[in-house]
Order: sequence, then structure tokens, then C-alpha cells
Amino acid sequence: MKPSPIKPSPIKPNPNPSRSVPSMTVPKLVAQKNEQKIVMLTAYDKTMASLLDDQADVLLVGDSLGCVVQGQATTLGVTLEQMIYHAAMVKQGASKALVVADLPFGSYQKDAADAVDASIRMIKESGVSAVKFEGGLGVCESISRVTAAGIPVMAHIGLTPQSFHAMGGNKVQGREAEAAEKLMKDALGVEAAGAFAVVLEGIPAVLAAEITAALSIPTIGIGAGPKCDGQVLVINDLIGLNESAAPMKFNKEYCAVRTHIQAAVSQFAMEVRDREFPGPEQSY
Ligand code: KIV
Repeated sequence: MKPSPIKPSPIKPNPNPSRSVPSMTVPKLVAQKNEQKIVMLTAYDKTMASLLDDQADVLLVGDSLGCVVQGQATTLGVTLEQMIYHAAMVKQGASKALVVADLPFGSYQKDAADAVDASIRMIKESGVSAVKFEGGLGVCESISRVTAAGIPVMAHIGLTPQSFHAMGGNKVQGREAEAAEKLMKDALGVEAAGAFAVVLEGIPAVLAAEITAALSIPTIGIGAGPKCDGQVLVINDLIGLNESAAPMKFNKEYCAVRTHIQAAVSQFAMEVRDREFPGPEQSY
């Protein structure tokens, strides 16, 4: 049987993205290294972006939306059109924070020309300020070409969810000496290629501290210990919005929004069934 051709996404990116200039810029963020810890949070739509904008230095439109918004097991199915669609919404809700968007799996891995094309589309069609993509030495040429096109690049090394199958799952990386040495080379490589910051995900805290000390660009950790120059969490994890029965060790749930939503909805359902809602106050 012939494989069915991949259908283009029906989602059309916003032709008129917000071009507002945020007060946080790439040079200001880089200058925060050694001065003030960087706060980065994911956001996937305007409402959440506007709630986070005041506290976050960076809003990341992460391809983690494949899992926490779309309900997929991995990020691998997320398309560039979907990322642009969400990035444009986040940009609408952010006036202060720097908005950075992930390039999804398949949009940049083939060669540097693809990475430049995908990055230009992201910037033009969503209005965000920078892109992020996963990989170390293997994507350095792409980082150089994208930055040469005037687009700031945030790198992402260690546990890179787009390599889910190659890693055998979302597992901590760099535990053995050889793997740790390779990660240090990746970090130095992405800095030399022109990345303005690097996400360190799922690596031992000691290694993250060594990498942070060796680089002049900021490191932003997730599951990488306290010595990184900044920290990022997936917002749905932080506020307790997910169904997930087994939370990741590195996450800290600061509230349990899911429980509040369930309680509110159950109250609404009861009032509708008991004919209490709508009352006179909600009626015209
Ligand atoms: O996709 C994402 O949300 C990310 C962060 C976890 C760093 O890459």
C-alpha cells in the first residue's frame, strides 16, 4: 500500500501579527548573566501570555504544546504552521517579555537553508523576536546562518525532546564522563555559532554549573539545577493544569488550577441541573 501523502495543515497563520516592540530585548537579556536570574515561562495563547508578561523576562512558545495543548505523547507531530499560529497569539498578549518560538521537528533538521526559511517564516508571520531550536554541534551551521540573517537564536541542548526516539525516551543526559564532555563541546559550539542563550534540559546540576561558568551567554535550565543563569518551566506544569499522574522530578507545582476548574465546573453543573442557574441576576 502506498503511504498517504502528508496533508498541509488547514491552519492559516495570522497574516497581521502584532509587531509591538517588547521592553525586553536580546542584548538586555544577555546582559542579565551574572546580574539577575532570568525567568522564562512557556505560553501558548494570548490570555496566558498576558497573565505572565509582567513577571517573565522571556515567554517561550514551546513545541511542548504538542503534549500539553494537543494531547500528543511527544512533540514530534507539531508543524511549523501550528507553531506560527500559537506564537502570533502569544505575541498579542506580551508587551514586556521577549517572545521566543520553537522551530518544530522537521522544519530545520535537513539543512541550514531549511532552518533559515523556517526562522524567517516564524519572524514574519508571528511577530516574535527570536527562535529556538534543539541540538548542539550538529546544528551550529544552522545557528550561524540564521543569526547571519539577523534572527536571534536560542539553543537547546541536553534532553532534547525532538530526539525522543534516539534517546529512548525523555531521559536525563550527560551522566557519563564522555556524554558530559560532548555536552560541554555542544555548549561551546552553539555559543561560538552565535546563539544568544542556551536552554540546558535534563542534565546533572554539576555539569550545568560547569557549562554556565564556561559560557559568556546565559544558560536557562529545566531539570539542570540551581546554577544556571535562569530557569524555565512549562506553565501548565507550574500551575497544576495537567492530567499527568507522574509529574517530572524537576517540576514544582505552585498551585492546583485543575482542582479549582473542576470545583467550579461541578458547581455550575449542579446549579444548572437544580435550576438555580441562571438566577434573576443573570437574566435580562
Ligand atoms: O518546548 C518547550 O516547552 C521547551 C522548554 C521545556 C524549554 O523547549
